[in-house]
Amino acid sequence: MGIAIMEKKQHSHSTFLFLLVFLSITRVQSHVSAVGDPGMKRDGLRVGFEGWNFCNEVGQEAPLMGSPRAADCFDLSDSGKLIHKVTEADNKLGVGQPFDSVGPQDINNTDIYAAKKELYLGSLCEVKDTPNPWQFWMIMLKNGNYDTKSGLCPQNGKKVPPFDSPGRFPCFGKGCMNQPILCHQQTQIKEGTMSGGFSGSYDLGFDCDDDGYDGLSYYEVIWEKKVSVGSWVFKHKLKTSKKYPWLMLYLRADATKGFSGGYHYDTRGMLKILPESPNFKVRLTLDIKLGGGAKSQFYLLDIGSCWKNNGAPCDGDVLSDVTRYSEMIINPETPAWCSPTGQRNCPPYHITAEDRKIYRNDTDNFPYSAYHYYCAPGNAKHLEHEVDTCDPYSNPQAQEIVQLLPHPIWGQYGYPTKKGDGWVGDARTWELDVGALSSRLYFYQDPGTPPAKRKWTSLDSGTEIFVSDSDEVAEWTLSDFDVIITPPTIDDEDKLQLY
Ligand SMILES: *[C@@H]1O[C@H](CO)[C@@H](O)[C@H](O)[C@H]1NC(C)=O
Ligand SMILES: *[C@@H]1O[C@H](CO)[C@@H](O)[C@H](O)[C@H]1NC(C)=O
Repeated sequence: MGIAIMEKKQHSHSTFLFLLVFLSITRVQSHVSAVGDPGMKRDGLRVGFEGWNFCNEVGQEAPLMGSPRAADCFDLSDSGKLIHKVTEADNKLGVGQPFDSVGPQDINNTDIYAAKKELYLGSLCEVKDTPNPWQFWMIMLKNGNYDTKSGLCPQNGKKVPPFDSPGRFPCFGKGCMNQPILCHQQTQIKEGTMSGGFSGSYDLGFDCDDDGYDGLSYYEVIWEKKVSVGSWVFKHKLKTSKKYPWLMLYLRADATKGFSGGYHYDTRGMLKILPESPNFKVRLTLDIKLGGGAKSQFYLLDIGSCWKNNGAPCDGDVLSDVTRYSEMIINPETPAWCSPTGQRNCPPYHITAEDRKIYRNDTDNFPYSAYHYYCAPGNAKHLEHEVDTCDPYSNPQAQEIVQLLPHPIWGQYGYPTKKGDGWVGDARTWELDVGALSSRLYFYQDPGTPPAKRKWTSLDSGTEIFVSDSDEVAEWTLSDFDVIITPPTIDDEDKLQLY
């Protein structure tokens, strides 16, 4: 390490000072968590709910459901009672109904109203902490139907008029982009065990008091914990139907301010510190009971952020902001579209753990089966390689996606190394060196621009059941989620330059 410092004349001085300061801090505080509730252990739970349409907006509210934002937040009193922070009236707030901090200019706009309601619910749930307050874990539910005649979704951030696109996106007709029926079981305590949940359906005839959901879409997240013992366990269920063949359900740790992944309004969440590559790890326990069929893209972990193609942070300008995602898909039925004959589905190069660059045309060495799919931002102006561009409609702005599959090369980061790892019957607690891995992934940037700081604003786990032919059901539990900040090493800054 001493030699390394000597060699780096340019910034050896500041790096060395920084390291000294950092080491003295870390000596005192060895486990630095980026989330407000490390390991999901806090009895006083904070959980939020959000419903998204195809382009991560609301569009139209479901009848009598209010705006698709809700929360269940409470403290546990010394006498063992739950003191709730959010009322059902708060949860039912819908467009046109006033509350603190929604102005007249926003009150009739379903999209902005939902964003403001999230901030309002956040203010009720907020927990004071250092270095920043935090609000809630976020349950995110998304309907993949897209009615191209609705005019609701922009194209790479640009407003476009309604268009015909038969068969390209699922939609049963007018109204297919609807928000769900939301049933809320406010958390209760019984014999020392606390539990509550959100559930419902996209089928608007669904009745919260009915048990059955045959032939209907369905989602459910139930949380449960024994007082003072272990972690909250979040039990998830997601079912597609003929009318709703593409659904997504994730549990996310989002930024507590600024934008979170795929969302262009100010958000509330759990990340009181934004983890930055390469200096963080993620710990989680995942137990998948039912996989959700061949087209369930189950993400052991999905990381999302936003930066511009010139490396600058996003500022809300949807024409130049770009959402970036990377996902580890653990459904063993998910094929690698990236292959020696399908190089346009691969990132232009792979960086090994030893920091060697392997171009995708190097058929002897490129790890094709480690990548499901890569797609470049639709607004990238200087693509040097032939690549697919990502779907232009499914985010409020252009997006870039790097999708990984289990492979031996990811083993060094604690990631799954072979098909079936972490899948049904193989419940595990993972400790993923997400920071180190994500610092080596390819993301597009305009030539000659300074590398973007890879600060991640959303980390989530869950599934996306893609345009299924039949009713598919996924069931899983998630617990122990934590994001751990790791101390920087002397090389980190130089590595980013290298890529
Ligand atoms: C919002 O909509 C309601 C009901 O249609 C209307 O009475 C009200 O004037 C609208 N407010 C604004 C600021 O446009
Ligand atoms: C492989 O790709 C790299 C980068 O695009 C290029 O410089 C090189 O010439 C290519 N090699 C072959 C054999 O095509």
